[in-house]
Amino acid sequence: MSEYTQNDTPVATALAAQRENRLVHFDVPGHKGGRGNKLLREYLGEEELKLDMNSMKPLDNLCHPVSVIKEAQRLTAEAFGAAEAFFIVNGTTAAVQTMIMATCKRGDKVIMPRNVHRSAINALVVCGALPVYINPGINQALGIPLGMSVKDVEQAIIDNPDAKAVMVNNPTYYGICSDLRSIVRIAHEHGMKVLVDEAHGTHFYFGENMPPSAMAAGADMAAVSMHKTGGSLTQSSVLLAADTINADYVRQIINLTQTTSGSYLLMASLDIARKNLYLNGKEMFAKTVEFSDYARKEINAIGGYYAFGEELVDGDAVFAFDRTKLSVHTREIGLAGIEVYDLLRDEYDIQIEFGDIGNILAIVSSGDRNLEIERLISALSEIKRLHEKSPAGLFDHEYINPQIVMGPQEAFYGYKHSLPMEKSAGRICGEFVMCYPPGIPILAPGELITEEILGYIAYAKKKGCFMTGTQDMKIENINVVEMPTYSVVRND
Ligand SMILES: Cc1ncc(COP(=O)(O)O)c(C=O)c1O
Repeated sequence: MSEYTQNDTPVATALAAQRENRLVHFDVPGHKGGRGNKLLREYLGEEELKLDMNSMKPLDNLCHPVSVIKEAQRLTAEAFGAAEAFFIVNGTTAAVQTMIMATCKRGDKVIMPRNVHRSAINALVVCGALPVYINPGINQALGIPLGMSVKDVEQAIIDNPDAKAVMVNNPTYYGICSDLRSIVRIAHEHGMKVLVDEAHGTHFYFGENMPPSAMAAGADMAAVSMHKTGGSLTQSSVLLAADTINADYVRQIINLTQTTSGSYLLMASLDIARKNLYLNGKEMFAKTVEFSDYARKEINAIGGYYAFGEELVDGDAVFAFDRTKLSVHTREIGLAGIEVYDLLRDEYDIQIEFGDIGNILAIVSSGDRNLEIERLISALSEIKRLHEKSPAGLFDHEYINPQIVMGPQEAFYGYKHSLPMEKSAGRICGEFVMCYPPGIPILAPGELITEEILGYIAYAKKKGCFMTGTQDMKIENINVVEMPTYSVVRND
């Protein structure tokens, strides 16, 4: 039996001990505790740089954990109610990709909502699995994609009895949750695994009165962005697995793509964040909800804006709402979300998480203070006073149902050529186009390019959304899949 408890931080403690000892380093990193890079030492601080070490016996090895990393992962699994936990240092992107690649092989089907993060579709490009998309519900007034209706998931499962897994966002970026427990029950009845993207749901495991977490709902795996709302350093993440999953196989899949030089700064931050969540999570997230609820009430009192909340819950495509999320609909004051996002940063020195066509999202946490919440509310009030106009002519939706023509891998690796975006309607897309954040593809490889989608992309560009995904850095041209009658030039 291990002597470590939730009060311990095996990796962080072992790392700090190495900083204090007099070991002479003839290993990487070559900055040797900062002595080899004075500029970086001045920038980051000497004590911090001394913590940047590579794997060695007393610090274990992320690819094959047998001591302190193994113990830290065990404590993490226990804290999250999972059978196994894996530290991930390549972002939640890697955790999402591992879930898909550990359950699907080339040609296998995975049922998923189309408003998944790009990392899920990237995994399909890499491993050759095929998506069965479920169109999320749409809230017409807000224009946002919601969760999946259980009826739609059940129908997709019945229509695709050979699918290997069902993937669920818990919650979406906007804070919307599907009925995860029912989806798990139905999927398991049909022998399918349930994979949950919980990039935005770390707090579900530690706060009170939260929507159910993936592990509590009986899901098989969950990708949890500790770095988003769990308090660890950016890029650190955790993959959770239930006892229905072969953990040793999952480790092999992680090692297909994860670095062999896992950052101990990231791992120590995961270790300390887990302890902090375990000890203080309840109070932290109660405070977060209190801040968000207060801000929602005050923003709604300004008029014009709609800071949405639990009233959206309909027992179906909005089964639950994550009250920590502060999402605000801006279209009724005549501004796109991205315009409010830009104004907040440029005129009020307030950086929020994202602004899209009709909404903004502010991430609130226990690290905020009353004065910051008040500053956001008053900035929104002033923006309305100074910039409000008629909403006529503003786009009213964030999501267009795609038409799938071929698998993502076949399209991405197929023969392609580049076309000016405006001349590409009717062709099959060979790459991604998305606004980032939220990183949900507007077009993914294998989907039909339509005039409606092109209109949406042009509008998002005009409004100032940060666009990404295409080979063309200017997002003016798009790679389309060569049909057999065209001359064939590989575009890579
Ligand atoms: C829903 C969702 N899944 C996965 C990810 C990927 O996380 P990361 O940026 O840590 O790779 C994100 C990132 O924003 C996300 O929003």
